[in-house]
Amino acid sequence: GSMTRYEAESALISAGVVESNHVGFSGTGFVNSDNAVGPYVEWTINSAAGGAATLSFGYANGTTVSRPLDVSVNGVLARDELAFAGTGAWTTYLAVQLPVTLQPGENKIRVTATTANGAPNLDYLDVG
Ligand code: GCU
Repeated sequence: GSMTRYEAESALISAGVVESNHVGFSGTGFVNSDNAVGPYVEWTINSAAGGAATLSFGYANGTTVSRPLDVSVNGVLARDELAFAGTGAWTTYLAVQLPVTLQPGENKIRVTATTANGAPNLDYLDVG
């Protein structure tokens, strides 16, 4: 089916910066969140009909330690501590998928860092 990409650098960023020093990203850069518990990135997405959808988060994690994120949809926790494993290098971008249910129209997708290491570098959210 069709898929829509929402760049992280265009999302709401609670605590972090947009950077572009690690090549391989989509769009104009990625979000480097603060290394702490609690920073989040929130995308506002649109689903005309609502219903089942797959979220795909593009990211890089140049460490060997997972940087789990809580994923909420419209303020409701959809997945506790979704794993974002090391990708081998900050220039290696992979994606993690999560099936969710969307409401018709606007939806807020928020990912929140759950460890002191913060979030991985977040590149985009694909909604398909
Ligand atoms: C390095 C890397 C950053 C990354 C950071 C981190 O500084 O260059 O892009 O965000 O590590 O550990 O979060």
